[in-house]
Amino acid sequence: MKIAVSGKGGVGKTVLVALLSRVFAESGYSVLTIDADPDANLAATLGFPHPEKIVPISEMKDLIEERTGARPGRAEIFFKLNPKVDDLPEKYWREHNGIKLMVMGRTKQGGSGCYCPENVLLQALVSHLLLARDEVVILDMEAGIEHLGRATAKAVDKLIVVVEPGRRSVETAYRIDKLAQDIGLPNIAIVGNKLRSQSDREFLISTLPGFEFLGFIPYDQALVAADLANLPLLDSSQQIINEVRNIYQALLPIAKAPSTTN
Ligand SMILES: Nc1ncnc2c1ncn2[C@@H]1O[C@H](COP(=O)(O)OP(=O)(O)OP(=O)(O)O)[C@@H](O)[C@H]1O
Ligand SMILES: [Mg+2]
Repeated sequence: MKIAVSGKGGVGKTVLVALLSRVFAESGYSVLTIDADPDANLAATLGFPHPEKIVPISEMKDLIEERTGARPGRAEIFFKLNPKVDDLPEKYWREHNGIKLMVMGRTKQGGSGCYCPENVLLQALVSHLLLARDEVVILDMEAGIEHLGRATAKAVDKLIVVVEPGRRSVETAYRIDKLAQDIGLPNIAIVGNKLRSQSDREFLISTLPGFEFLGFIPYDQALVAADLANLPLLDSSQQIINEVRNIYQALLPIAKAPSTTN
């Protein structure tokens, strides 16, 4: 199963990716998470030791040059648009508590017309991870999903858009839905996060009619307190993990049973 998580800044994408990966891993699935947010912090949220020491793929200049034939930053005109990437996951993922992580890093801005070697390598790698791997792959993305190309988008079984009770995150959800339709990705679902009341839930349901809701996660001060005290986020809130288990159950019908070989 391939899941991508998007939504407005700060709505709780990374927390959801981390908790979902944990629930999948506990249930016996092999899980590979991808931090595709330029402001990467999934490693820290997953409790990796020394997350700051993880070098994002986009900063591996020698690797990018080796695979594409062009060094980032140099004005080279010719380079490979289909670099070899199938050996990269095993070489560059990190693993902690049974969850694998690849940190993509910052790509060059410039939209889909920007063919620079780092973008080409990252796109090839993300496509490979989504199209050719057997793991449950969970992608933590920024609010835009433009860097999911058409071919890659087809491999995404579910695009989860996280929203919080507030107009702006709902507007972002509509924008993402539009982009998703443009690239041929129809399987969108919403997760409401940071809910404080029944009326928060009703607000989301009424402002997002016609959308599938996978679940509603309560606001829990315990998560904020754990963050401030630099304690593991994943163990901080029982009510949140319970709701993420429900979301996992709602996703299961589109997953294959865990492979018994690992
Ligand atoms: N249900 C919740 N209850 C309380 N705090 C929460 C909840 N969900 C997320 N948070 C807090 O909100 C903040 C933002 O969460 P998170 O980093 O997961 O969001 P994000 O969407 O990934 O943000 P960014 O766009 O910056 O990547 C964090 O401090 C997190 O601890
Ligand atoms: Mg994040």
